[in-house]
Amino acid sequence: MNSVMFCMKRLSEQSKLRRMDEYTQHGSTSCLKHTIAVAYYSVRLAEKLGIKYKKTDLIRGALLHDYFLYDWHDGNGRKVHGFTHPKAALVNADRDYDLTDTEKEIIVKHMFPLTIMPPKCREGWIVCMVDKYCSLYETFKRKRPYENLLTKNPTAYAELYRQIIAM
Ligand SMILES: [Fe+2]
Ligand SMILES: [Fe+2]
Repeated sequence: MNSVMFCMKRLSEQSKLRRMDEYTQHGSTSCLKHTIAVAYYSVRLAEKLGIKYKKTDLIRGALLHDYFLYDWHDGNGRKVHGFTHPKAALVNADRDYDLTDTEKEIIVKHMFPLTIMPPKCREGWIVCMVDKYCSLYETFKRKRPYENLLTKNPTAYAELYRQIIAM
């Protein structure tokens, strides 16, 4: 079993994050795969920029930014999902985890500029930008998105895994 599968297995045993794998985000990408990709590329971007940032907060905030726990493709809420899901994700995450202010900020501001208030921290800006990039990628690469990430980069996933089970 490779480390990604191991990570997913442990996630399903120890964290409510696993439920995000039941819901589609874009194309064939589940919410869980989307958030892991956003977390991974957020860290990559922060390292590339060479800025000071709170790594654990960035990863946890990114993993929980779409923790709304429903299928937004169903029902009447679809039209307003873009506006309302950051708050829904925050309510769920705040209920299930002990969040820092930075993590709350990342979650609730990630849809800027759709939701009017911009992020107040650099971690929030990073997730906001990476989320848009990943969403576009998932929408256009509908077949097996993040193939390299899922199969060829076990180290990054191992780190994410440690952060996830520490929640
Ligand atoms: Fe979102
Ligand atoms: Fe997202």
